[in-house]
Amino acid sequence: MITAYRIVGYFLIVTTLFTGVFVALIFSNTEIEPIQTTPKFAPESIERGEMLAKIGSCSACHTVENGLDFAGGVGLPTPFGVIFSTNITPDPETGIGTWSFQAFDRAMRRGLDREGRHLYPAFPYDFFSKTTELDMQDLYAYFMTRKPVKKTAEKNDLVFPFSYRPFLLGWKTLFLKDQLFYPDPNLSETENHGAYLASSLGHCGACHSPRNIFGAVISKKSLQGGTAEGWDAPALGTFSNAKIKWREDDYANYLFDGWSEQHGIAAGSMTPVTDHLYDADEDDVYAISAWLAALTPKQSDLDREFLIASANALDWPNSSGIVFDEELPNKKIEAGRDLFLQKCSKCHKQRVSNTQPVSLALTFTVNAETPQNLYNVIKKGIQPPVGSMNRKMEPIDLKEEEFSLVAAYVRWHFSDEKEWKELSNFSGQHK
Ligand code: HEC
Ligand code: HEC
Ligand code: HEC
Repeated sequence: MITAYRIVGYFLIVTTLFTGVFVALIFSNTEIEPIQTTPKFAPESIERGEMLAKIGSCSACHTVENGLDFAGGVGLPTPFGVIFSTNITPDPETGIGTWSFQAFDRAMRRGLDREGRHLYPAFPYDFFSKTTELDMQDLYAYFMTRKPVKKTAEKNDLVFPFSYRPFLLGWKTLFLKDQLFYPDPNLSETENHGAYLASSLGHCGACHSPRNIFGAVISKKSLQGGTAEGWDAPALGTFSNAKIKWREDDYANYLFDGWSEQHGIAAGSMTPVTDHLYDADEDDVYAISAWLAALTPKQSDLDREFLIASANALDWPNSSGIVFDEELPNKKIEAGRDLFLQKCSKCHKQRVSNTQPVSLALTFTVNAETPQNLYNVIKKGIQPPVGSMNRKMEPIDLKEEEFSLVAAYVRWHFSDEKEWKELSNFSGQHK
C-alpha cells in the first residue's frame, strides 16, 4: 500500500510541476486534417513495411487471439490498470483510414493520435520514435493497404489520475526523448543495422530493461533485465550473465525458432516476439543476432564445452522411476525431489535425442534471480513457439506448497545460484 501512495504522490508532484508547461503545450497538439482518399503505394514499399511490422510485433498487441488482423482490443496489464490497443486497420471510422502519413508518423514518434490526444506509452512509441523516415513510410504503406475492419476500441480500465490523458504530457516531457538512432563507429554496418532495429521497431528494451515508478524505461540501465507481462526478461548482450555465453548462431536460432540448443526455449512474453521474427526478413534477424553477439562477453570453446558437460551431468537418469543419486540436505529438498520424480522427470532427463528438452541447468528460468518464470512455466505450461512446435509443456497442477518444494529442489539441484528466499506461498510477484 505504501508504494501505491508513493507512486500517486510522486505522480502528483511531477504533474503539478509540469502543469505550466502542459497548459502552454496542450493547445499546440492540434488535430491533423483527415484525408479523404488513400494514397497509392509502391509494392516494394508495402512488402518492406510488412517485414518491419514483423520486427515490431505489431500484431502481438493489435490482434486478439483468433481475431481479425490489426483490429485492436488486446488488453495490456500495467501497474496502473488495463490499457486496450486500438484498431490500426484503414477503416475510416474506427481505424486509421483517415490518417495522413504525417498523422501516423506523429503517433509513432510522439504518441499523439490524429486528433491530438495523448496516447499511453503501453504503445512503445518511446522506441518507435527512433525509426527512420523511410522505414516509417513503408510501415504506413503496409497498414494503409490492409483489410479495413470496423471495430471500436474498448474503453481502458484505469484509475484516476492515470485515466486522464492530458497528464501524459508530464510523462512525455520527462521520458520521451525525441532521438533518432546514432550508429556506433565501433560496430560493423550489419551490427549497426541490428542495433537500429532492436532499439527502434524491435523495442527489445521495452521488456529487457528495468522501469522506474512512472513505468518508464531507465535509459541508463537499458537491456539490464526487466519484467514483461508477469515474466522476468533476462539481461541481454553486454549484461547477459547466461552461463553459456550466447554466440551469433545461438541468438539466430533462438530468435528464429524460439529455441537454442544451449539455452532452451523462448517462453511467456518472448514467444510472440520469436513467432514474429520467424516470418521476418532473414537479414534483419541475422543483423540483430550479429549486434547482440558483438556485445556479449566471450568464452573459449573449452570453457563452453566444460560448462555444457557440467550442466548435462546434472540431468536425471534416462530410465523411468530412477532418482538422481545424490545426498539431500534436508526433508524439504527431499520432498521436492519426490515431486520432481513424479511430475517432471518423465521429460526432464538425460538427452538421448535433441527433440528432448535441454538440460534444465542451462536455462535462464532455473538460474534467474526470482522463481517467477519457473512459477509461470509450471502454472501456465509452455505454448511452444512456431519454429519449435513440438516443445510443448502442459501446465502442471501443483498446490502452492508443492510448487515451493519442487522449486527449492530444482534450484538446489540444477543451479549454483543462491537459494530462492521468497518461495513459501509464492504466487507470482508481478501479475
Ligand atoms: C506492446 C504493445 C504494442 C505494440 C508492440 C504495438 N502497439 Fe500500437 N498501440 C498499443 C496500444 C496499447 C495503443 C493504444 C494507446 C492508447 O490508447 O493510448 C496503440 C496505439 C497505436 C496507434 C494509434 C492508433 C489510434 O487510433 O490512436 C498506432 C498508429 C499504432 N499503435 C501502431 C502500431 C504499429 C505500426 C506497431 C508495430 C510497429 C505497433 N503499434 C505496435 C500497443 C502496442
Ligand atoms: C514483450 C516482452 C519482450 C520483448 C519485446 C522482447 N523480449 Fe526477449 N525475452 C522476454 C522474456 C520474458 C524472456 C524470457 C523467456 C524465457 O525464459 O523463457 C526473453 C528472453 C530473451 C532471450 C534469452 C536470453 C537468455 O539469457 O536466456 C533473448 C536472447 C531475447 N529475449 C532477445 C530479445 C530480442 C533481440 C528482442 C527484440 C527483437 C526481444 N527479446 C524482445 C521478453 C521480451
Ligand atoms: C510432458 C513433458 C514435460 C513435463 C512433465 C515437464 N516439462 Fe518442463 N519442459 C518441457 C518442454 C518440452 C520444455 C521446453 C524446453 C525444451 O524443449 O528445451 C520444458 C521447459 C521447462 C523449463 C524451461 C523454461 C524456460 O523458459 O526456459 C523449466 C524450468 C521446466 N520445464 C521445468 C519443469 C518442471 C519443474 C516440471 C515438473 C513440475 C516440468 N518441467 C515438467 C516438457 C515437460
